[in-house]
Amino acid sequence: MQNNTFSRLYLRQNLIVLDEVSSTNDYLKELLSNIKPLAEATAIMARNQTHGRGQRGSTWLTTKDENLTFSFALYPKNFLSSKSFDLNVIVCLGIQKTLKQYGLDARIKWPNDIYVNNRKVCGVLIENRLAGANIQTSIVGVGVNVNQISFPKSIAGKTTSMRLESIAKDEIDIQNLCLGLLTTILTIYETSACIDKLSLLRDYNDCLFRKGVIASFLIDGAEREAVIREVDERGLLHVLVDNQMRTFDNKEIAYII
Ligand code: BTN
Repeated sequence: MQNNTFSRLYLRQNLIVLDEVSSTNDYLKELLSNIKPLAEATAIMARNQTHGRGQRGSTWLTTKDENLTFSFALYPKNFLSSKSFDLNVIVCLGIQKTLKQYGLDARIKWPNDIYVNNRKVCGVLIENRLAGANIQTSIVGVGVNVNQISFPKSIAGKTTSMRLESIAKDEIDIQNLCLGLLTTILTIYETSACIDKLSLLRDYNDCLFRKGVIASFLIDGAEREAVIREVDERGLLHVLVDNQMRTFDNKEIAYII
């Protein structure tokens, strides 16, 4: 019997499954502005998403009934917006651990993509509403390629799905996966209040994609070979470039996959 606040039963009762929405993040945002109060961890899952949004203004494409798209609401207490990377760490670790339960060796590609065997399987879009220096509401949107087995040629080399990467290649129950992800992410979120955040960051760094290997990146407008060392608590990436340690923010470096 689980005695945490976000038990699987609680999460099941607060999961709203819809046929089609433009974006689960936008739908939840709209709900939050119309209905008050909405229980923490209320989640919206859509069987189809027509205008999914990704990081930095990108779009997130999915196919109906084959993949998982969902968003949930958090109301962190006394959570400084300057510490917002902690939420990335919590969410990515929860996803990484859940995918591991499905037998997948998932890696976190900084700052918040999930890769399996060098291909992207999952993306995360976290949108925070601030009140002064604190995060008041956080909408966490997660898109996972689950059962899709073919991708457009343009992205096939860098995109994959859980089913494609699994050994059994069996179809995965999408709603069950959603509840599993919510349970793991929210358990870490709940316990993070009373544990050392650095231990979570260590776990994040332990499964960091391309850590410690020579790889190609776009740096200062040119393709360069470099080695990722770690991510720090501000969310900056530490990289060894030409025998010099440099730190990068999200927009300052790009992986060449
Ligand atoms: C990325 O990789 O750029 C982030 C993708 C995030 C996609 C998810 S799908 C559910 C939620 N709703 C959205 O519109 N976006 C997120």
